[in-house]
Amino acid sequence: MTTDKGLREALADRITAGGDLRSPVWRQAVLDIPRHEFLRDGFFRRTDEGGRTGWEPVRPEDPAWLQACYSDESLVTQIAGTVMPADMDGRIYRQPTSSSTLPGLVVRMLEELNISDSMKVLEIGTGTGYSTALLCHRLGDRLVTSVEVDPAVSGRARVSLGRVGRLPDLVVGDGLKGHPENAPYDRLIATCGVLHIPGEWIEQVKPGGQILATVGGWLYASELARLTVREDGTAAGRLLGGAISFMLARPQSPPPLGILPDMTEGEEREAVVAGDALEDWTARFVAQLAAPGAQRFGLTDEEGPVDVLLDVERQSWAALRNGGGRRWLVRQGGPDRLWDRIEEHLTRWREDGAPGLDRFLITARPGGQTITWAA
Ligand SMILES: C[S@@+](CC[C@H](N)C(=O)[O-])C[C@H]1O[C@@H](n2cnc3c(N)ncnc32)[C@H](O)[C@@H]1O
Repeated sequence: MTTDKGLREALADRITAGGDLRSPVWRQAVLDIPRHEFLRDGFFRRTDEGGRTGWEPVRPEDPAWLQACYSDESLVTQIAGTVMPADMDGRIYRQPTSSSTLPGLVVRMLEELNISDSMKVLEIGTGTGYSTALLCHRLGDRLVTSVEVDPAVSGRARVSLGRVGRLPDLVVGDGLKGHPENAPYDRLIATCGVLHIPGEWIEQVKPGGQILATVGGWLYASELARLTVREDGTAAGRLLGGAISFMLARPQSPPPLGILPDMTEGEEREAVVAGDALEDWTARFVAQLAAPGAQRFGLTDEEGPVDVLLDVERQSWAALRNGGGRRWLVRQGGPDRLWDRIEEHLTRWREDGAPGLDRFLITARPGGQTITWAA
């Protein structure tokens, strides 16, 4: 029978071979921290059937549970903001709201954080507490603060951390505000995505300190960013590449679509950039910079499928329809011309050679951020 120690070794080998685990200190942490102790309440297995994504609970009594705890996979631990694996049998069709991130990514982020002894770290998004435990292993509990927005999730993480003998400062609250009580920090790491780097994070990290977070948007393209805080109260750095995606911080979820605008109105023209350009992750990231309030969804009307972009707050919209082959038509309405802006950005990015996200630069300051690419 494979022991959990053997499974931990196999996991460490796998994420070393994948290039995520690079240094002996983090290898030792992966070997010493039992991930299954953070999944004792079970997780949800994804099922895709008839075009719908459902989730089924897997609990410790399931023979597949232990092995899965040591897979290099994200394991969903909460659905729809409240539902835990212990709460149900059968299948649920709602969105995941908390998970244990795949260990390869957790460790890659910890490696990217450039931690050295006696650094004080703020983690945003405690989740199961697994990544918090790895941080505690590296630095000692006293130097680790972790903020979780969901009190029930934080409570479970506290129990799991206690089971493995760890007692960091666990805080329940909105991590977008940081945790000023323990500031200043040397490092800040976020395991939920953000639309923009909050000013509070920049203020609470020492000059020279680093922030590591996934920046994303409502078109669901995101990337890991590492910024260094500067003396002038701004932070700057680059995106690291790898098409990293995290669930967005809860207060930054997109607003409900509401009543859809009348899409027979507005003006129609031939699209310069084809509507399917947004199938590409990097192109979608660029489009998101041009139209940060836009959400994307598909519709079908009597003339066929339509790809819609809608900025709920501004009530601006663009509807793209394939006119045969590479010909696309776009109809736009509302105060902004969303597709005009996206086309302008995408054309400039393509003229610059369509650089990958690892060539993008980010500058953040309280009140705003700028993301550009190096041509
Ligand atoms: C991907 S999970 C965290 C994974 C975790 N590091 C682990 O190893 O288990 C993201 C977590 O961020 C939390 N979260 C979302 N928005 C937040 C916010 N504004 N402040 C703090 N935590 C937040 C979610 O509730 C969720 O538990």
